[in-house]
Amino acid sequence: MLSLYMATIISEPSRTFSEFLLLPNLTGKDCIPDNISLKTPLVKNKRGENSALTLSIPLSSAIMQSVSNHTLAIALARCGGLSFVYQSQPIADQAEMVRKVKNFKAGFVASNSNLKPESNLLDVKELLGRTGHSTMPITQDGSANGKLLGVLTSRDYRLKDMDLGTPVSQIMTPFESLVYAEEGISLREANDLIWEHKLNSLPVIDRSRKLRYLVFRQDYDEHRENPDESIDAEKRLMVGAGVNTRDYRERIPVLLEAGADILCIDSSDGFSDWQRDLLAWVRDEYGEEIRIGAGNVVDGEGFRFLAECGADFVKVGVGGGSICITREQKGIGRGQASAVIDVARARDEYFESTGEYVPICSDGGIVLDYHILLALAMGADFVMMGRYFSRFDESPGKILRIQGNYVQEYWAEGSERARNWQRYYVGGEEALTFEEGVDIYVPYAGKLKDNVNLTLSKIKSAMCNCGVTSIADLQSKARLTVVSSTTIREGGAHDVISKEKDLPPGT
Ligand code: IMP
Repeated sequence: MLSLYMATIISEPSRTFSEFLLLPNLTGKDCIPDNISLKTPLVKNKRGENSALTLSIPLSSAIMQSVSNHTLAIALARCGGLSFVYQSQPIADQAEMVRKVKNFKAGFVASNSNLKPESNLLDVKELLGRTGHSTMPITQDGSANGKLLGVLTSRDYRLKDMDLGTPVSQIMTPFESLVYAEEGISLREANDLIWEHKLNSLPVIDRSRKLRYLVFRQDYDEHRENPDESIDAEKRLMVGAGVNTRDYRERIPVLLEAGADILCIDSSDGFSDWQRDLLAWVRDEYGEEIRIGAGNVVDGEGFRFLAECGADFVKVGVGGGSICITREQKGIGRGQASAVIDVARARDEYFESTGEYVPICSDGGIVLDYHILLALAMGADFVMMGRYFSRFDESPGKILRIQGNYVQEYWAEGSERARNWQRYYVGGEEALTFEEGVDIYVPYAGKLKDNVNLTLSKIKSAMCNCGVTSIADLQSKARLTVVSSTTIREGGAHDVISKEKDLPPGT
């Protein structure tokens, strides 16, 4: 019975991922890592139809200044995941990041060391000092996309023996003698040319002879097309972009023009009229053509609200982020595991009653790799992570050495540093009056690809233990158990002597 004078109390405690473990199922002989597919739907689909957008791996990066810029987005899309470029920046800057991802071609680089024909060796010396690159295209106007007139390489000059006033036009390899390629060439074909002609680099030009890229003689394997890459119909990398409930009328058209494949509302609370308005505006303006996720919510009611408003996917999680202090500041939130379980149930009921499957994304609170697997087993279609990606070379935070350890900056969107007040907008004053997140360090972890591969190999290995070869299989067959605190203790190395610190000196 509903009481007028007290809140509804949900008696089940709010649980986190670390409170669960998976039980092994029978592992069939065909259940080996090579047979596992981690393909997952990104946007809603009707019963019996496939999702129009899918990911090869169920990982997305958080809509945060310290996480999802263009370099991280490129690295993650190349591994089969997806980034949502942060929206707490001017519209033009966000669009530029989106554009950089869409224009990225593996192994094709825009030249950053260019000179005009009338430049001399003194200019060469200065440019070399600044960029460290000895291959210098000579273009009519000295720009990266000017008409290509020749190329200068370290074989053409000896700075200490030559007159620094010598114009580069006298010593460059002129266009007529260059081996070059035309735009549209594949990386494999470019590499073949490089090997055939024993080149160090190959300029790629457009029809009007304007320079587009350079392809360098590098390890072809490093850039080989990856079958798992997240790519669009034109083979460009896919990228998402965050939007907010304040300036969406101006921001969304610019992001779409820049090539964003999918949008996501960046908000700490998705169960709001503001999100309903935004989604209605998108459907009015663009129909179903534009893909947009919404969130965040933590229960079935919130999910249904956003699904009915037309969200293409729904993001789950309030207060579980590693940098988040929302629960301390406002007492709002829910343990991430409970939130995912509740929302997944509502998603399945919604599917049963409407025939529409709306994917859910578990956002925040992933600490250990196996938490990703738990989130998927609990019904998430993919996860979003901030802390995880903030530790990599490709993320925007500075890498520092502190007390002998390498760390990387990671700051919350609700911190004073990011000042993303749009994310916390609840009407009224447009200001961040108190912080909902912190500005901290995370342990630096190196290259994204190496870390993602390791994470995926753990996930695949655990899926073999569960006797499943796909995420859908995992969701239907996984068995989860709630753990006690002593079970957690039993799970680590215990009752043994650590070689590093427990032995007394002299032993
Ligand atoms: P993490 O993966 O545990 O680090 O969590 C990342 C998630 O935390 C993001 O995707 C956001 O949903 C959330 N988040 C980002 N900034 C803040 C904040 O200032 N307060 C609360 N949550 C935040």
